[in-house]
Order: sequence, then structure tokens, then C-alpha cells
Amino acid sequence: LHAIHAPRCNRGFTIFFTGLSGAGKSTIAAALRAMLDGKCGQPVTLLDGDAVRKNLSSDLGFSKQDRDTNIRRIGFVAREATMRGGIAICAQIAPYDAARKAARRMLEEAGGFVLVHVATPLDVCEKRDPKGLYAKARAGLIPSFTGISDPYEPPPDAEVVVDTTDVSVEEAAEEIVRCLVLLGYLRTGNNIGAADGQPSM
Ligand SMILES: Nc1ncnc2c1ncn2[C@@H]1O[C@H](COP(=O)(O)OP(=O)(O)OP(=O)(O)O)[C@@H](O)[C@H]1O
Ligand SMILES: [Mg+2]
Repeated sequence: LHAIHAPRCNRGFTIFFTGLSGAGKSTIAAALRAMLDGKCGQPVTLLDGDAVRKNLSSDLGFSKQDRDTNIRRIGFVAREATMRGGIAICAQIAPYDAARKAARRMLEEAGGFVLVHVATPLDVCEKRDPKGLYAKARAGLIPSFTGISDPYEPPPDAEVVVDTTDVSVEEAAEEIVRCLVLLGYLRTGNNIGAADGQPSM
């Protein structure tokens, strides 16, 4: 064995989205992953709310208790990635402040936690209605639908707040990257955001 080069020890962290259904969490999270993946030397794990509900939390409903359990599970998986120096991107509604704060405490200890509030207002989300869920909720076909018949507690502690009413997906993802640089999680000059950047970290 010759010299073993220790990789640069980047700190792992979790980017945790919150916001109403249709706000743009999944869309922005996917764009953000494309910007970061393979460009910052850290593995990127995307935990999207729909995939989590289908694969990890298919036994859960939408009571407060089940929503809290769902967030605890997401936090647990994100911690595994974060503790090993990775980047976890979690994109789910996460309507309750206490559950988000518990995730923050755990993930800050694991490396870092950045809360992104996609604060697109309800009327815009409802007009978009990409999954047709608001129409169903208004018709009374979905009980406990966040923003209609279930609470959403806006976070007082978000590191990034982005309202997608007049901001493009790319602009929103770039704003999050800028925040990650400001907070010291990412360094500039490593081609983040470039279309075909070489990994350089
Ligand atoms: N600037 C924007 N940023 C993000 N999404 C946008 C923007 N403008 C329009 N959209 C559209 O808004 C919709 C957002 O849907 P998306 O699935 O990302 O929401 P979500 O927050 O993940 O909702 P859910 O909680 O139901 O999963 C998409 O159809 C997307 O194309
Ligand atoms: Mg989504």
C-alpha cells in the first residue's frame, strides 16, 4: 500500500423542506439534487414525501400522530446519510413545528440542518393543483388535507424562505445553494449549478 489520501472531510447535512401541497417542494428538491449530485464530493440522498409515503410509511395515515411518526422516520434515514458525510434532501409537507424542531435537534447533532420553507400561498397552490388533490379535498373526499381541513404551522425558524409565485424553479434552487454557501456547508468554485461540472472537491 502506498499513500492513502484521506478525502476532504466535508460535513454532512440535511436540507429539510416544508410547505403546502403543490408549493413546489418536490420540483425544487429535484432541481437542487441535480445541481449538487456529483459536484460537491458528497453523496446526495433524496427522500421525497411521496416516495416515503409509498415505501417507508405506507402503514401511516394523516392524523397528527401519524404525521409526526412519518417525520421521525424521515429524520432517522436523513441522520444515517448525514452522519456519514452525505447530503440528505427531504421534501415533505411537515406541517407541525414541534416535529420539525425535533428533526432539527437530531440532525444538527448529526452534522447540520437547513430548513427551507417553500412558502407559496394556498391560493396559488390550489390553482396549480398538480395532483388534483385540492379539488378532492374541497369536495370533502380527502379528510385532514393540509391547508384545507388540517393545520399548517408556518416555520419561524427557516433558513430559506422561497415563494414560487414569481420565482422560477432554477432561481429557487440557486437561492438555496447560495444559502448553503453562506452557512458554510458548501464552497464556491466547485461547479455547483453548472450543467456538466467536473467534480472538483
Ligand atoms: N417556480 C416554481 N417552483 C416550483 N414549482 C413550480 C414553480 N412554478 C410552477 N410550479 C409547478 O408547481 C407544482 C409544484 O408541485 P410539487 O409536486 O413540486 O409540489 P409539492 O410541494 O412537492 O407538493 P406535495 O406536498 O403534494 O408533494 C408543479 O406542477 C410545478 O411544475
Ligand atoms: Mg412533493
